[in-house]
Amino acid sequence: MKVTVTVNGEPVAAEVEDRLLLVHYLREVAGLTATNIGCDTTSCGACTVLLNGESVKSCTVLAAQADGSEVVTVEGLAGPGGELHPMQRAFHAEHGLQCGFCTPGMVMAAISLLRENPAPTEEQVRSGLEGNLCRCTGYHNIVRAILAAARGAAE
Ligand code: FES
Ligand code: FES
Repeated sequence: MKVTVTVNGEPVAAEVEDRLLLVHYLREVAGLTATNIGCDTTSCGACTVLLNGESVKSCTVLAAQADGSEVVTVEGLAGPGGELHPMQRAFHAEHGLQCGFCTPGMVMAAISLLRENPAPTEEQVRSGLEGNLCRCTGYHNIVRAILAAARGAAE
C-alpha cells in the first residue's frame, strides 16, 4: 500500500508492505537511522518518536497506521543552524548518556513528558521514563537532565 508520512517536516511517500513497522519505515524508507531498535518485545523504548506530537514506540505502530501523520525523530530536533534542542543540550550538560543507544528514544520521551507536565517532580520523571530502558547510566543523570531542561523551560 502507498503510505505518506511527514517526517521531520518533509513528506516521505513509499509503497510498503501492510505489515511494515513505523520504525523500519523511518530507518529503511526515510533513511533516518538514529531511531534505534533495542528489543523485540516492545519494552526498551529505543524506538520512541513523536507521532502527531505524542511519544510512541515506533516498533508498535504500523507504517500504514501513520499514513497522513506527522512524525518527529531525534534527527528533526536541531534548529535550522544545527543548534541542539534544549533537551539535547541538557542531556549533554548533565552527562545523560554513555553509549548513547537509548538516547534518541530517551530524548523523545523526555520531550513528550515535559509537554504533558512542564514542571515534573523527580518521581514523576522517573515514572514517566518507565517505558525507556538504559543499560548504562542508572538513570540518575538522565533524570537530572530532564529536570534541568524543565527548569530551563520554566525560566
Ligand atoms: S525497539 Fe524496543 S520498544 Fe521498540
Ligand atoms: S546510554 Fe547506553 S543504553 Fe542508555
